[in-house]
Amino acid sequence: MYVLALVTQKGGSGKSTLSVGLAVAAMQRGERVALVEADAQGTISKWKERRGGVYPRVDRVADIAEVEPMISHLRAEGVWLAIIDTAATNNALATRAIASADLCLIPARPSPADIEAAVPTLVAIRRFNRRFAFILNQTPTRGCRLSEAATSLNSLGVLALPFIGQRNDHQDALGAGLGVTEFAPEGKASEEVVALWGWISERLIVESNDHGQAALKTAC
Ligand SMILES: Nc1ncnc2c1ncn2[C@@H]1O[C@H](COP(=O)(O)OP(=O)(O)O)[C@@H](O)[C@H]1O
Ligand SMILES: [Mg+2]
Repeated sequence: MYVLALVTQKGGSGKSTLSVGLAVAAMQRGERVALVEADAQGTISKWKERRGGVYPRVDRVADIAEVEPMISHLRAEGVWLAIIDTAATNNALATRAIASADLCLIPARPSPADIEAAVPTLVAIRRFNRRFAFILNQTPTRGCRLSEAATSLNSLGVLALPFIGQRNDHQDALGAGLGVTEFAPEGKASEEVVALWGWISERLIVESNDHGQAALKTAC
């Protein structure tokens, strides 16, 4: 099982929206997916209530002691991908999610405040030697803000592709209890999320295997 953690202490950057969008996109590719809500705000649980139905499963963790048992439980249940949505603080629960993740995803809007807010998260990620990528989210369709933000994030680490545009479909999908790829499958927002899931899954699978091979070689 692979574990993704959506982390950054900046509220409103898109952690919950992207967690849901990516979970549904992966599910539509036939993967067994679980969303793990590590945020008392309950955005994912409320989305799930609106959604009804069984999939993707949503599990909540309220304490750091619950994170590892939850991951073990999901792995034992045959889940292929667990996506942990965290709160907009640098709290212990978010730190534990980082420590448990194969890949940490840091959404940031193209604003200095979001980019600055990513720095403490990055420190925690480096402390645990986790892999990570930034996701530039809620980007305007044009303007130089975008390239400035992309340059700043690129200087801090890997930037996932494509950028995710500011589009109403994301908000409407959340409100309807759907993933954006279900809400407007032919839309641009859907296209971007599918492509982003492709980018992430490639890194997750290929690089995790590389890590495994490297560990194997070291062990040998
Ligand atoms: N790409 C996007 N386009 C339009 N709205 C977005 C996008 N990403 C997030 N939003 C909206 O921004 C708000 C904050 O997003 P949210 O996912 O709740 O952030 P976080 O979980 O990081 O606090 C929500 O209303 C959400 O629907
Ligand atoms: Mg949230």
